[in-house]
Amino acid sequence: MPNAKATDDLAALFEAALRARDHAHAPYSRFAVGAAVRSASGAIFAGCNVENAAYPSGVCAETAAIAAMVCAGEREIAAILVLGQGDEPLTPCGACRQRILEFATPQTLIHCGSASGPGVARTMDELLPHAFGPDRLSKGAP
Ligand code: THU
Repeated sequence: MPNAKATDDLAALFEAALRARDHAHAPYSRFAVGAAVRSASGAIFAGCNVENAAYPSGVCAETAAIAAMVCAGEREIAAILVLGQGDEPLTPCGACRQRILEFATPQTLIHCGSASGPGVARTMDELLPHAFGPDRLSKGAP
């Protein structure tokens, strides 16, 4: 049973992701996504997907939320929640799993939500096992 603080934290993350999804620019896929990152300081940074007529130039919601966090001078994701459309929990795409990894630990929780709720929590390691991250890169540095 989660404690009251943890429940409040998750509710705030969920609300932020849901509000961000309202601003998605998704005229091509018509699939709106919202994401909210809680950083180490406790601040919340939200993002939505922003598509582009030149399709590959679009960005995912997680990418936008992480960019907002980094732009504010933070480098640590304490938790992230992502949600899309429909009742199924949304699990981050492969590229976004890698982007989350850059600022996460193997235990960082990724909440895979939907508009009906925060959904299921998975750890970073569950969503991207055997990952190539900053640690591995520094082990090979000259
Ligand atoms: N999308 C995200 O924003 N995050 C994900 O993790 C999955 C996919 C977006 C990209 C595109 O704008 C739309 O959802 C359909 O793929």
